[in-house]
Amino acid sequence: MKRAVAVVGAGPAGLTLANLIQQSGIDCVVLEKASRAHVETRPRAGVLEHRSVTMLESLGLADRLLMEADRHGTCEFRVNGQAFQVSYSDLYGNQKHYVYPQQEVVKDLIGSFLDAGGDIRFSVSDVELRDLTSSTPSVHWTSADGVRTCVSADFVAGCDGFHGVSRPSIPDGVLTEFTHQHGIEWLAILAEAPPSTKAIIYALHEDGFAGHMLRSPSVSRFYLQVPVGTKASDWSDEQVWEALHKRFALQGSTWSLTEGKIIEKRVLDMRSHVVEPMSYGRLYLLGDAAHIITPVGAKGMNLAMNDAATFGRALISFYETGSEAGLKTYSDDCLRRVWRAQEFSQWMVNMIHTDVSSPFFGRLAQARLEHLAESPAYRATFAENYVGP
Ligand code: FAD
Ligand code: PHB
Repeated sequence: MKRAVAVVGAGPAGLTLANLIQQSGIDCVVLEKASRAHVETRPRAGVLEHRSVTMLESLGLADRLLMEADRHGTCEFRVNGQAFQVSYSDLYGNQKHYVYPQQEVVKDLIGSFLDAGGDIRFSVSDVELRDLTSSTPSVHWTSADGVRTCVSADFVAGCDGFHGVSRPSIPDGVLTEFTHQHGIEWLAILAEAPPSTKAIIYALHEDGFAGHMLRSPSVSRFYLQVPVGTKASDWSDEQVWEALHKRFALQGSTWSLTEGKIIEKRVLDMRSHVVEPMSYGRLYLLGDAAHIITPVGAKGMNLAMNDAATFGRALISFYETGSEAGLKTYSDDCLRRVWRAQEFSQWMVNMIHTDVSSPFFGRLAQARLEHLAESPAYRATFAENYVGP
């Protein structure tokens, strides 16, 4: 099999790229380890930045999203039983966030790619990348029915997430890796509970952070800061609700939290990891394959889509004009945004968490929140980074 581009991984990065280049007549095949049903129902992120939506819209890929997604321009912080809101959209060009679950993004992108004649191979295994520094790299895999198959391509797009095969296919010593363990953990909870809030809530409490995030009119996402080393099974559903009630509590308010059936409970690895450069020979790394970020600030899916748009434009320019300029600057272009997002996410991590072993940092977090509550200049900077500069 010969294709211009072999795309490894059908997450937001791989599917955005595949749609983008297919629209410009660049042929590709997408190889995905999981089944279609699995990727279309895997709940993960839920917030799209304005610019991600604008990009999808410009490609005609946002029809359902624009009809169904809720727009949000305000978030709420709670500390010491008091609440304040930041209307970040008003502070930054009226740009809003769109609440639209990642699995719906994936479903839409698979649908549009297949409708336009795209080729996705689901449930593949033993994916191997070869000859990455030659002009004809290849990808080999075993198909769902057990047949070993191979595609030779001009380029390989490694969009297979943090645990994929693309990054480990690069020889040792080529990439510089930057890793940081944030020293905190989140228990992520998905509940069949209608949202108890119109705006995302970030609560700093002496027991640890609690977050109330939004997904749909009947499903909500909650996060609880838990001690490092916690297992999801350490927390009963009752303990989860008790902690959420306690950490969100407001003094002198009638606000209440609506409970519901807990349908997912898992501990998130709060780690940041970036590799430089984001390419090797004809292999280009996109999204989580090149960088992971904490969920704080909701940047991961948006960075993945930005990589796809940047790489897609570079490929289109290469095939239309022969110019390699975009391919040469791809890594630097993406890394600038990645590091800016990492810096913001880290800044937010420090603002909303309690370090029980070091109360000093708890006080710093409170001081930062007070600054945010009081200072229009600080709020404007927050808004710019939160919306996505
Ligand atoms: P992925 O979505 O991981 O896609 C990679 C794909 O490659 C997968 O489908 C995988 O099955 C496939 N694959 C893996 N190995 C192979 C292989 N060997 N061969 C073929 N295919 C392979 N981000 C936000 O922006 N906002 C949020 O609110 C947010 N919340 C999050 C909450 C949770 C609980 C989690 C876990 C993540 C969250 N993120 C959030 C991060 C976001 O989900 C990721 O950054 C995003 O999925 C990255 O997209 P991707 O396409 O790079 O990788
Ligand atoms: C989420 O929707 O899961 C989310 C939103 C905002 C954050 C973190 C997570 O800062």
